[in-house]
Amino acid sequence: MDKKFKRTLVTCALPYANGPVHIGHLAGVYVPADIYVRYLRMRGEDVLYVCGSDEHGVPITIKARQQGCSPQDIVDKYHSIIDGSFKALGINFDIYGRTSSKVHEANASEFFKKLYDEGKFISRESEQYYDPEAKTFLADRYIVGTCPKCGAEGAYGDQCEKCGATLSPEELINPKSKLSGAEPVRKKTTHWYLPLDRYEPWLREWILEGHKEWRPNVYGQVKSWLDGGLQPRAVTRDLDWGVPVPIEGAEGKVLYVWFDAPIGYISNTIELLPNDWEKWWKSEDTKLVHFIGKDNIVFHCIVFPAMLKAYGGYVLPENVPANEFLNLEGDKISTSRNWAVWAHEYVRDFPGQEDALRYVLTANAPETKDNDFSWKDFQTRNNSELVAIFGNFVNRAVVLTHKYFGGKVPACGELAGIDREVLDGVPELRASLEKNIENYKFREALKDAMGIARLGNKYISDTEPWKVAKTDMERCATILNISLQLCADLAIAFEPFTPFATARLRKMLGIELGWDMLGGNAIIPEGHMIGEAELLFTKIEDEQIQAQLDRLEKIRAEREAAEKAEAAKQVIPQKEECSFEDFEKMDIRTATVLEAERVPKTDKLLKLTIDTGIDKRVIVSGIAEYYSPEDMVGKQICILANLKPRTIRGIESHGMILMAKQGDGKMRFITPQDAVANGAVVG
Ligand code: MF3
Ligand code: ZN
Repeated sequence: MDKKFKRTLVTCALPYANGPVHIGHLAGVYVPADIYVRYLRMRGEDVLYVCGSDEHGVPITIKARQQGCSPQDIVDKYHSIIDGSFKALGINFDIYGRTSSKVHEANASEFFKKLYDEGKFISRESEQYYDPEAKTFLADRYIVGTCPKCGAEGAYGDQCEKCGATLSPEELINPKSKLSGAEPVRKKTTHWYLPLDRYEPWLREWILEGHKEWRPNVYGQVKSWLDGGLQPRAVTRDLDWGVPVPIEGAEGKVLYVWFDAPIGYISNTIELLPNDWEKWWKSEDTKLVHFIGKDNIVFHCIVFPAMLKAYGGYVLPENVPANEFLNLEGDKISTSRNWAVWAHEYVRDFPGQEDALRYVLTANAPETKDNDFSWKDFQTRNNSELVAIFGNFVNRAVVLTHKYFGGKVPACGELAGIDREVLDGVPELRASLEKNIENYKFREALKDAMGIARLGNKYISDTEPWKVAKTDMERCATILNISLQLCADLAIAFEPFTPFATARLRKMLGIELGWDMLGGNAIIPEGHMIGEAELLFTKIEDEQIQAQLDRLEKIRAEREAAEKAEAAKQVIPQKEECSFEDFEKMDIRTATVLEAERVPKTDKLLKLTIDTGIDKRVIVSGIAEYYSPEDMVGKQICILANLKPRTIRGIESHGMILMAKQGDGKMRFITPQDAVANGAVVG
């Protein structure tokens, strides 16, 4: 560890308590932070590990309204679900606090008040939307209307969920309040702003010059914000859920959630250590590290540091190892679309397999780019890496020790070349693992740890102690002694990654282990009695995976059906006027399909031979998504007969089949109600 620092304060982004956490959160923030903390603790570092629920903000008030309960009810519910799922996954914060606590309210108030008193804010009057019936200002999310970009109904004042456009409420066509349905009016209101522009030169120096070692994705995002020029940011809102603005005349206003939430890191520390918290936040020799997802970069690298700087006396983050996003089965994870693997459901569905999730989310962590989680990959990694390599090796070593030596660690004799090779391999992997974790490269670090398991598994396969035992018990003893040393190495090296398995392994080996022992030649002394073999990891069965895939498939199908139904309702707008003469030009007639076949190498086209009453001709039509060739043969239809011939995929098409087409693209051909002669004129 860096000599400059005496202790490390690790924070994890406070999850919003308006939904459970999912694997995207785990992979992005909590699993890497947990690895880092466990590692530092094993190295004997002084670490404080702080998190909690982020319980303010507009989405929580919206959810409460939808469910007919109070915002407090919502956050109580999710706070306990989230807290429980972290514990179940072995993510044990020193404190998991909450921003609706009294300590936080007092602390956030005090923070604001000091900046206010010292003139660190500017105030500005602006016009905001106000609901004259509900008598309250409206957050952007509380205003809905027609999207100016795509025309969709129900777009929010900050975003259209249909086309993804970022909006401001003024842009909405026909805006309505979500609270009362009334048309919102503009009304003057005053808010306080943190003038970030004043901190720009300092931020440039501190980050762009002083922290070139930050991850490229983090550094790059910060640089582009700074290059774009910083603007004052509002730190208060007109809302009735949050920390009240602690100054006179500010009734009905609260601190903006992104102002109070990061202060929550400090509040939670105070809650845990009321008398001792300051050394964690105010001593130069504390190393502060924020674990976050990439959508939080600006708040943790620009806004919160500016707040801390404005207040004075606080340490600033030494690093902010933000991750990119994890997708699920090829689609963006989304709480509102229910496209996620929820942490609390995982621990319910995969009891005893918590390590498997930690392992896979690390092996596949989105450290440098977005990554995908798929259930198949999850199963493969568990079964062919954790079970088949790590678990299998340990099992063979322990079982054979019991079989040949009654569970007593046998003596290590003279070392052969292969023995030296494996024993020398471990210190090398250890050095790499340490360097990787210290540089927040957890994927690589896990590869190093797995490297030890691979060494062991190969060693025991190559040396075949079960065969050697028939002829040379002394050699067999040496092989198993070395294998057991490797088991101990694994119990140490994997502790940050798979803590449940390493606890079982330590119990099996029956020995206290410390990081410094990793890579030693005699971690477990000769003659020591080891415990019974226990499975470290269990196979994940096809049925378990299929159940998860079925669940997702159902969600996907429901969503697609809902989207289709929505689109089907959309009426295609009327075209511009045409004259009777225009219409008269079109020769529309009845005709019968004689033959039909697919046009090769296309999905949509059918080649139809039809009897028009005038002649037999070929028409190519884009209806293959809706009709098969068999459906078409013998059907009476309507055609536009005098359409100028066109060549489609090398086939000359003489006319067009008339189809009724609805908003979602679905098409049906038009048939006279009763059969008529082919060539009858429609008009
Ligand atoms: N709740 C925010 C999110 O999930 C994170 C808040 S982090 C904090 O994106 F620093 F503000 F606490
Ligand atoms: Zn839109």
